[in-house]
Amino acid sequence: MFRTMEFKDNRLYLIDQRKLPVEHTMFECKDYRDVEFAIKDMVVRGAPAIGAAAAYGIVLAAKEFVGMDKFDFLDNLKEAMDLLYRARPTAVNLMWAIDRMKEIIIDNKDLVNKEIYMEIRKLADRIYDEDIETNKKIGEYGNQIIPKSARILTHCNAGALATAGYGTALGVIRKAHYSGKEILVYVDETRPRLQGAKLTAWELMEERIPCKLIADNVAATLIRDKMVDVIVVGADRIALNGDTANKIGTFMLSVIAKTYDIAFYIAAPISTIDFYMKSGDEIEIEQRDSTEVTHIDGIRVAAEGIEVYNPAFDVTPWENITGIITEKGIISPPYRENIEKLKSLL
Ligand code: MRU
Repeated sequence: MFRTMEFKDNRLYLIDQRKLPVEHTMFECKDYRDVEFAIKDMVVRGAPAIGAAAAYGIVLAAKEFVGMDKFDFLDNLKEAMDLLYRARPTAVNLMWAIDRMKEIIIDNKDLVNKEIYMEIRKLADRIYDEDIETNKKIGEYGNQIIPKSARILTHCNAGALATAGYGTALGVIRKAHYSGKEILVYVDETRPRLQGAKLTAWELMEERIPCKLIADNVAATLIRDKMVDVIVVGADRIALNGDTANKIGTFMLSVIAKTYDIAFYIAAPISTIDFYMKSGDEIEIEQRDSTEVTHIDGIRVAAEGIEVYNPAFDVTPWENITGIITEKGIISPPYRENIEKLKSLL
């Protein structure tokens, strides 16, 4: 199995997801500025993956500044963390990972710089390792809702590439497949950036998990024609009331699922729940460059000069969600009550 990212010899190596599936190359981050670029330009993408990458970005920053006096060390580290914090706005895992880093720095501020660096390094490894463990648990719980023989529709890429490894929605699919269930995965191509076609299809094909690629606009027909048993997607931010931001097009799928009474599940770690956000109305939706829509792989496919509206995410209202699969179990409605309950147990 490939590694989405690897930290070695004071470098962060990321699979360059902009180039898959045609080229499998590693993007080298020598410092935190490279990590910020990699997150912004989507060398690395997917909520938990950008959180883990940012954590290693802070390791690189700490290494760079470790020789300074304490005040400058902490001041420069703060600047680096602020820069990484702003790299992308919607996926809360980015802020979650950086907030954990801030906490460990505050807790250890009386140590010498080198020791603070060691604590930062240990925490980055922990965030990385925990994410894989978390995804495996999500896979176990999620497998409970997958019938013995199932046609599963997924959107975007919530796989090993979008996490430290194994995946959330694809973690559920992997677990179902390896536990002997007969599954067929329909993969939405996921315009404009084609994470489904380029990434999810690649991951599934690598492991010979039966799958079929569809153009996004096929989903309604597929669901109406009873060719889908369950939909499982990932998440970028889940509000306290269960409203969920995920890749643009997820909301549309949820509406179709509701119309035809198909189960619609979100698979996400608890780190994707934003306990401070009351509803999805408060979630900032990233707007991306118009060329993502006007061009495909650098080739213009739209009339020159056309104006574009290109939100990268949408919010699926809680009413359309059958359940939220987490590492602690499946959260069912009423979400506000059950998410509050979960929070009190953490
Ligand atoms: O813009 P992206 O590719 O970062 O968007 C990714 C998604 O929307 C994923 O579905 C989400 O981050 C969940 S990843 C486990």
